[in-house]
Amino acid sequence: MSEMFLVTGGAGFIGSHLVAALLAEGHRVRVIDDLSTGKRENLPEAVEFLEGSITDAALMHAAAAGIAGCFHLAAIASVERGIEAWLATHAVNLGGLITVFEALRSRPVPVVYASSAAVYGDSAELPITERAAKHPLSAYGADKLGCEQHALVAHHVHGIPTLGLRFFNVYGPRQDPRSPYSGVISIFCERLRAGEPVAIFGDGAQTRDFVFVADVVAALRAAMSGIKSGDVWPAAVFNVCTGRATSVCELAETIAGLCGRRADIRFAPARKGEIRHSLGAPEAARAALGLGEPTPLRQGLAATLNWLETTPLKP
Ligand code: NAD
Ligand code: UD1
Repeated sequence: MSEMFLVTGGAGFIGSHLVAALLAEGHRVRVIDDLSTGKRENLPEAVEFLEGSITDAALMHAAAAGIAGCFHLAAIASVERGIEAWLATHAVNLGGLITVFEALRSRPVPVVYASSAAVYGDSAELPITERAAKHPLSAYGADKLGCEQHALVAHHVHGIPTLGLRFFNVYGPRQDPRSPYSGVISIFCERLRAGEPVAIFGDGAQTRDFVFVADVVAALRAAMSGIKSGDVWPAAVFNVCTGRATSVCELAETIAGLCGRRADIRFAPARKGEIRHSLGAPEAARAALGLGEPTPLRQGLAATLNWLETTPLKP
């Protein structure tokens, strides 16, 4: 059945892949995005597009009209930006989520929202299960944990069914390599492909659980189906990860290898608020949402490199 879904942040990296998948399934899609990092050209013509901020309550009310469900992805998705602009990122990352729920409280529909592995901080437990202690080390992670708490409130007080997905490090085509806040894979792919040096912050032995964007879209769609069918508890939170750890040095070598080059690595000081090891346990999400095997890293990296090869980046 064709339904209307709202995707906040739909012009962004993950959001635009989700929008394409929803349209391909025959759904109608409305996007609200302020284009701060998202791009209009990421969206096909068929999308109903509202340009503006999720913190604008009147606009959010208009965006919520007639929808069957909301995917809330809009955020300032950078740990570094949260350090530089603490209050401004908080207004969007937590205030924006509350504005979304406010717009839906008079007519509750399911909300699947993006949380982050950043809620765990430097976890002593590896791989990290959903029950691990949450000690965020950054404003970004603290706000995502706040999102989860307000989602519980949205469910218990206002009857809004919610499902949070703690994405680990997402990568793939359309992740912008040109911003200093870009994900490491997009930066490394862009530079190593061009034979340029890459900077590694710290000793490069820090590890991440890199998850391909198509697998994230599959999790988002399964989450919405699960919450609509009542198969998933209507205030649940799951990891979206692969259960495989890759160090930043290993990542640089793998990408360079796929480009047929040797990696030219320059070591630089470690970042503030940096997590040392991030490795998620994917089993709970797989069981509850019926997810398949994750895309192997080399396959996802090859797709990302191919996209960079075939898509000229605008300055
Ligand atoms: P992105 O920056 O490409 O997408 C975020 C989108 O939100 C952009 O289109 C941006 O223009 C929009 N946006 C920002 N502020 C807004 C505002 N005030 N009003 C309306 N739109 C606004 O980043 P992404 O990687 O696609 O991230 C999507 C979501 O996933 C975010 O919530 C992010 O925190 C979360 N997440 C991402 C990762 C990752 O590795 N990429 C990991 C964990 C969680
Ligand atoms: C990322 C996400 C964040 C998400 C979190 C979940 C991005 C931009 N940020 O943060 O939204 O909530 O995962 O865990 O995707 N690095 C280098 N050289 C570079 C760039 C990065 O060595 O040029 C290193 C970093 O120091 C870090 C690792 O690579 O150790 C990953 O960095 P990054 O891609 O920025 O992601 P996170 O900080 O893990």
